[in-house]
Amino acid sequence: MSEAAARYRAEWARSHDDREAFWLDAAAALDWESAPTVALAQDAGRWSWFPDGRLNLSVNALDRHVDAGRGEQTALIFDSAMTGTQERVSYRELRERTARFAGVLRAHGVGRGDRVVVYLPMIPEAIVAMLACARIGAVHSVVFGGFGATELAARIEDAGARVVVTASGGLEPARPIDYVAIVSEALETAKTVDTVIVKARPGFPPAPAGEPGGASWVDWEAAVAGAEPADPVAVASTDPLYILYTSGTTGSPKGVVRDTGGYGAALAWSMRNIYGIGAGEVFWTASDVGWVVGHSYIVYAPLLVGATTVLYEGKPVGTPDAGAFWRVVDEHRVSVMFTAPTAIRAIRRLDPELALLGGRTTSLRALFLAGERADPETLRWIETGLDVPVVDHWWQTETGWPIAANPLGLGALPAKPGSATVPMPGYRIAVLDAAGREVPAGTEGNIAIELPLPPGTLTDIWGGGGRFADAYLSTFPGYYATGDSGRLDDDGYLSVMGRTDDVINVAGHRLSTGALEEVLAKHDAVAECAVIGVKDELKGQRAVGFVTLTAAGAGEQVGEELVALVRRHIGPVAAFRDVVLVERLPKTRSGKILRKTLRQIMDGEPYRVPATIEDPDVIDAVIQTLGERIADAPAAPTAPVTAAPPVGAA
Ligand code: COA
Ligand code: AMP
Repeated sequence: MSEAAARYRAEWARSHDDREAFWLDAAAALDWESAPTVALAQDAGRWSWFPDGRLNLSVNALDRHVDAGRGEQTALIFDSAMTGTQERVSYRELRERTARFAGVLRAHGVGRGDRVVVYLPMIPEAIVAMLACARIGAVHSVVFGGFGATELAARIEDAGARVVVTASGGLEPARPIDYVAIVSEALETAKTVDTVIVKARPGFPPAPAGEPGGASWVDWEAAVAGAEPADPVAVASTDPLYILYTSGTTGSPKGVVRDTGGYGAALAWSMRNIYGIGAGEVFWTASDVGWVVGHSYIVYAPLLVGATTVLYEGKPVGTPDAGAFWRVVDEHRVSVMFTAPTAIRAIRRLDPELALLGGRTTSLRALFLAGERADPETLRWIETGLDVPVVDHWWQTETGWPIAANPLGLGALPAKPGSATVPMPGYRIAVLDAAGREVPAGTEGNIAIELPLPPGTLTDIWGGGGRFADAYLSTFPGYYATGDSGRLDDDGYLSVMGRTDDVINVAGHRLSTGALEEVLAKHDAVAECAVIGVKDELKGQRAVGFVTLTAAGAGEQVGEELVALVRRHIGPVAAFRDVVLVERLPKTRSGKILRKTLRQIMDGEPYRVPATIEDPDVIDAVIQTLGERIADAPAAPTAPVTAAPPVGAA
């Protein structure tokens, strides 16, 4: 066994066999107002981490580095490929801005436990707003800018937010984003908000006068100018730091609740041992603060360990070209980078020879990929091009940090193509069949994590009421059901293959087909609909809607109207463009739509027609309608099946 493998195994084993000591050691990387004496407390099937500890995560991210004499070090590099501007913000400056904005929040009545929705583009104010909430014990809920008014309203209402922080505009290559209009529309339904704070951006109209949506609209700069900096408030380790909404199987998003101390300890451990990053080094996550990847690895983790984080407003391609990432790495001397495989596929499409790399990545030690399955071909291509380790690692909004990875900080393990390598400390992974029995090594099944989950993972679904247990803990008693399928090999390496539920992944963005179906069903002309995720060369998957029309439903324009409806309600992030109008949808005799069969047909895979199908002719009619839209020639059906599919999901 290599030295690295021995080190990894020892760490992983200690995290389970000597759990208290392992995690109390990890927690010691943080500054606590009152240090925890206990790592884990368990009660009635629930658990909490560091229950008697008290701390402030904003202090850990900012003040303590300033107090340790590193105030002049750059905490944040803002690089906007959209405006061609850059800004370097020191730890001292970031603390000042955070404390002032915390003062603004406090002046507007925000206190410990109050929820603040942050709906901002990729500008430094997004980080300031998040850390300001943490400073006063408020709970932030960041909503990704690509979500539209209905999704924003649902999140504001569910969180019961009184304050929304937004900007006058966002910049996408194709068009400017009118945040003010979207927030105003959201406030027509979300009635909990009394204050909207607006960061004015050059080129956009300032905050509106009056009270659109019944809230008072406040200009960020004016408010900050008159604010007293707020002192930090220590909170219980178990207090919620944030709520982050994610897609589940139903139309309503689930508010993942993250604690404070467990999250901080897990992130600090991960920075050193997975990413191999310490104080003073430059770490760049090319994602968006609206996703969990952004929360953890643009904002909290790099700052907790005193590194420099890069906030990039731009795309991997088109801003201005497929060399944009390499420019950022070069100009800011990035040591370790993290992005989604789709970004690499986008670059490869435009620059297959990596001509734009031009020797500009000499500072780079490693590239980490997550958000969707990294196909081995893309991974090999970029690894050869960059000539550094490229690590596919797997995690979810719910877990907050990687479940499986190659922990480069402990020493690189041998990589295996198509595998996210091995479980991280605290995670004991099992692959289960539909009945909850472990399957033999090499067999695909449901990936589950033995309880309790390690620190940093979700502690609840906002609103409680048993939703956490229902969604994650009831399928396989004693385990957290990840919703992903995959297999473990004889060496304990994990390969993650895809979802077992109705969640799809479009360009690394997680979407619920259930939510898309709810929107399509709003249209008067729609009788029935089914949305599936099909393979997409660039984005991994894309959503396709199969629709039957009511007698009154008329012709071709319905498709366009449905595309517009999804854009308005869910937002452009759904990248929804494909509507297939069919006479009838294939169903079982009990009325269940055969979504999986539709997906297999569209992906050109051998498709299964269950023996319980209501009318087999419907399949032929669908294939005829699809014609050339099917990925390859439609594959022949496999024999009718009556047994449940191996993974146990429809
Ligand atoms: N605010 C508003 N709109 C946004 C947005 C934001 N923050 N992010 C994306 N959108 C819009 C885009 O402008 C696009 O709108 P359009 O339909 O009018 O063109 C739409 O949402 C779809 O965006 P996307 O899926 O990102 O497609 P794209 O064609 O603009 O870009 C990639 C394709 C591959 C370059 C891009 O998806 C990418 O960089 N992906 C990386 C994914 C990532 O970071 N995932 C996070 C998990 S690690
Ligand atoms: P999100 O919660 O948006 O981060 O999405 C999490 C989901 O993305 C997971 O449940 C997986 O389905 C998918 N995913 C993320 N990372 C990977 C990976 N490295 N390999 C395969 N799937 C991944």
